Amino acid sequence: MSFLTGLLQLLPPETAHNFTIQLTKYGSSLLGSAFQDQSLHTNVRGLNFKNPLGIAAGFDKNAELIDPLLKIGFGFVECGTVTPMPQFGNTQPRVFRLKKDNAIINRLGFNNKGEKRFVKNLISAKKSGIVGSNIGPNKDSKNFIDDYLKIYRKISISCDYVTINVSSPNTEALRDLQRKEYLEVLLRELSQIRDEETIRKLIMLKIDPDNTNDHYSMIINLVNKYNIDGIIATNTSLSRPEILRDLNKKREGGLSGAPIKDLSDKVLKFLYRETNQELILIGVGGVCSALDAYNKIKLGASLVQLYTSLTYCGPQLINEILIDLVKLIKDDGFTNISEAVGADNR
Ligand SMILES: Cc1cc2nc3c(=O)[nH]c(=O)nc-3n(C[C@H](O)[C@H](O)[C@H](O)COP(=O)(O)O)c2cc1C
Repeated sequence: MSFLTGLLQLLPPETAHNFTIQLTKYGSSLLGSAFQDQSLHTNVRGLNFKNPLGIAAGFDKNAELIDPLLKIGFGFVECGTVTPMPQFGNTQPRVFRLKKDNAIINRLGFNNKGEKRFVKNLISAKKSGIVGSNIGPNKDSKNFIDDYLKIYRKISISCDYVTINVSSPNTEALRDLQRKEYLEVLLRELSQIRDEETIRKLIMLKIDPDNTNDHYSMIINLVNKYNIDGIIATNTSLSRPEILRDLNKKREGGLSGAPIKDLSDKVLKFLYRETNQELILIGVGGVCSALDAYNKIKLGASLVQLYTSLTYCGPQLINEILIDLVKLIKDDGFTNISEAVGADNR
């Protein structure tokens, strides 16, 4: 951990995050150049990633850090969750560090500046890498499904893929959208809009780690039926694993970081086996090292994301992971990261 990251840990988590946003925006040029290696380049459904490591949704909610995040080494950036209208989110405090567990519990509730500002930022970014937009409904919306459709129409043209977030635990009733009767309508209507586009954008569905395999099978069926391109596994968890030691474990909200790694990996493993390797899988949850990222890739993820570990370790973590990933690929006798996808899960 750097001196600055250590200092940030002394601030309340949300203040530290806002400060980090400013630092990333104006200070990314002070950081050394990002590590690059041909063995990390990967092409996923026609999109070229300079490496498979992305920043997960929630860090750059308003698409204002796309260029600096790509510059410091991420292969892709997923912005959002953005909602049609700006909203404040839940009352503060709403982010809690579990320092002893390398974890966070948050109940932010989609705080963001709304779709108009988001699109303006998306358009003005130089985008020297892949950019995804993660979308959700406003908390007080009368019709959640309409919100997704409305925002998809406005956003898809300006990014490489769109993630449908039906898995945040902090908007009341949002996770109900993962029930068959709602998910079917949502995916059917979205796919209709997508099929009418001149440039077809990829759609990813982001799911939670707190469900049963039967439930995930139902999701896979719908995803296949409506030609959704892939699944992001997973969002934060409402579970509280026994191993948690920090007193903040009692806070309400979604748990992220090291303690959800096994849970997310289990979902990823199941998805890869059940989908015959036809879907794009993005593995997220508890990635703190190159080995964590590599394990997700070997379980079947073509791409990997992280968030919580960045807040504990600082931006140098990105280069560290990329450098070590290259070694892990070589040690296994692969020449490119894409050869490792699913290697441990066939
Ligand atoms: C403070 C915070 C805010 C988040 N906000 C969002 C969000 O707006 N949309 C979303 O899909 N996921 C959000 N997430 C979940 C992350 O994208 C990710 O799925 C989860 O944290 C697991 O990854 P990690 O263990 O590397 O943090 C958030 C996570 C954190 C810690």
